[in-house]
Amino acid sequence: MRLQDKVAVVTGAASGMGKSIAEVYANEGAKVVLVDLNFEGVEEVARAIQNTGGEAKAVSANVAKREDVENMIDTAVEAYGTLDILVNNAGIMDLMEPVGDIVDDKWDQIMDVNVKGVMMATRKAVPIFREQGQGTIINTASTGGLNGAHAGASYAASKHAVVGLTKNTAFMYAQEGIRCNAIAPGAVETNIMNEEAMKNVNQFGGSRTRLAQSVIPRTGKPEEIAKVALFLASDDSSFVNGDVIVADAGWTAAF
Ligand SMILES: NC(=O)c1ccc[n+]([C@@H]2O[C@H](COP(=O)([O-])OP(=O)(O)OC[C@H]3O[C@@H](n4cnc5c(N)ncnc54)[C@H](O)[C@@H]3O)[C@@H](O)[C@H]2O)c1
Repeated sequence: MRLQDKVAVVTGAASGMGKSIAEVYANEGAKVVLVDLNFEGVEEVARAIQNTGGEAKAVSANVAKREDVENMIDTAVEAYGTLDILVNNAGIMDLMEPVGDIVDDKWDQIMDVNVKGVMMATRKAVPIFREQGQGTIINTASTGGLNGAHAGASYAASKHAVVGLTKNTAFMYAQEGIRCNAIAPGAVETNIMNEEAMKNVNQFGGSRTRLAQSVIPRTGKPEEIAKVALFLASDDSSFVNGDVIVADAGWTAAF
């Protein structure tokens, strides 16, 4: 068991990669707090973990709301005594809009969830990690946070910001036993781009990103990202800090 008795908070755990990460962590002995806007969804995942003998607790939270974010960390500490691992995974996509077509409210929403949520959760976790002299943060960025061709302008900007926040956090606390890394997944089979959203994709932006999509070697499964998140949470990655691990079957090797 690579995470025996570690306490982990995983956001966006009702679906996709967050769900897989929570399941893998629980399987490896972690006590997991599953966080999502979709409370029924995380309750179901938590119950399934408990039914197989794992430790899990579901929490309803909007990661864009400060009180919710603080409550999710407080809940972990109250339930399990501390916090060792924070996975900032909850995130939303744009509709491939280029900057010329951005609507202010949509920009704000994407920044609040994808960037401010990561900052607020990390800010709340850091004092706990500093006090105990150890802690690990894993942020779900995206290949869209490494180049300009995989999404719209808002999503690309938000995920580039996540990469910057990851590196700065890693550097700032590097001498205090705290590690902060990101995963940059390529195209993964989750619910992030549902059929309804696909119908509303920006025509011009969508046609530009299709250029890059045409060289996707294959899509990934959430479990393939969860294995990377396990590596980053465990001592196997003890010397890895401030890094962005790309998991995309070679997509960004081309574009
Ligand atoms: N699927 C991909 O191809 C892909 C690629 C690169 C990066 N990502 C990133 O991976 C992360 C996980 O996404 P996924 O693909 O598993 O999507 P998903 O939609 O299957 O899961 C995301 C979960 O986050 C929750 N969520 C959304 N907004 C929230 C909020 N404000 N507060 C709390 N929970 C919220 C949703 O309810 C959902 O359960 C996101 O950060 C996304 O940007 C996805």
